[in-house]
Amino acid sequence: MSVQTPILKAQELTRFYEVSQGPLKPAAVVKALDGVSFTVEAGKTLAVVGESGCGKSTLARQITMIERPTSGQLQFDEYDLVNASDDELKSARRKVQMIFQNPFGSLNPRKKVGSIIAEPLVINTTLSKVEREDRVRKLMDKVGLRPEHYDRYPHMFSGGQRQRIAVARALMLEPKLVVADEPVSALDVSVQAQVLNLLMDLQQDMNLAYLFISHDLSVVRHIADDIMVMYLGKVAEYGKAEQIFKQPRHPYTQALLASTPHLKSENRKQRVILTGELPSPLAPPTGCVFHTRCPFATQQCAEQVPDLRDFDGRLTSCLRVAEIAADQGRSRG
Ligand SMILES: Nc1ncnc2c1ncn2[C@@H]1O[C@H](COP(=O)(O)OP(=O)(O)O)[C@@H](O)[C@H]1O
Ligand SMILES: [Mg+2]
Repeated sequence: MSVQTPILKAQELTRFYEVSQGPLKPAAVVKALDGVSFTVEAGKTLAVVGESGCGKSTLARQITMIERPTSGQLQFDEYDLVNASDDELKSARRKVQMIFQNPFGSLNPRKKVGSIIAEPLVINTTLSKVEREDRVRKLMDKVGLRPEHYDRYPHMFSGGQRQRIAVARALMLEPKLVVADEPVSALDVSVQAQVLNLLMDLQQDMNLAYLFISHDLSVVRHIADDIMVMYLGKVAEYGKAEQIFKQPRHPYTQALLASTPHLKSENRKQRVILTGELPSPLAPPTGCVFHTRCPFATQQCAEQVPDLRDFDGRLTSCLRVAEIAADQGRSRG
């Protein structure tokens, strides 16, 4: 095995938003992303999973350079994205592309598919029209679009085909990293599998790294190499996908997995059921942010912020992870 070099490395990445609470109140701060660290290897997939509002899209906006982080470090390829000049960001942006949940929103309805996919080439290269068409047609073939689709308009396509168009456009400049934010969440389950398979084939073919965002663990089952589970802007559990699916250790991951009925795991018997509502991110719980919904929480969990620590081959932020694992081991045995 060769030594892997990360294509993307985030350290204590943080993004806060100020939100107005009305004219007479001071602005409140949402800690949308609160000290998140991870790496993505070239050609590999990190899946970022968690309920709506946990900070996934905020993370995507930092990596795709739509926003600048509040603090922390973010290294992509040879670029320091936090301190980069505008020129450096411009060239870094070519190598990071994004795919969204709703491709219809990002596909211009008045343009034909051929020119939609060619757009990045028009903006970023000096290729001639003929050269562009040649490249577009090759890529269309690669993503499973037929030659006659070149002259059609986006509304003539199904959701799955539209996502293929969006994928083709994202890959036109041969990026090293693709950030996919819920790319199959709007599609029927049968179509989801086709698009996921396509993404995996393209990854092999073009050595793409993916940061793949989903609220649904079952979606990332086959595509993820690593999984990072987030809760209220923080990392709950982070490690190899195989290990996390086999035996999730953080109670939040256990609950997410238990709520995904068609996923089998060793901890089937330990059905952790989430209680209560997701707390307001404007007033996150003290101590462990998950304690208000955790069936294992004690008084200590309400008071002490857990560090992200190594346990059973992955990182978890749970004060009681060892006790819970021992209990669950006993009840299983
Ligand atoms: N521009 C913004 N201004 C204020 N709050 C925001 C902004 N963007 C996101 N948030 C808040 O940050 C938190 C994380 O949001 P988001 O990253 O969209 O989560 P997810 O993609 O996981 O659903 C939410 O509480 C959301 O309301
Ligand atoms: Mg989102």
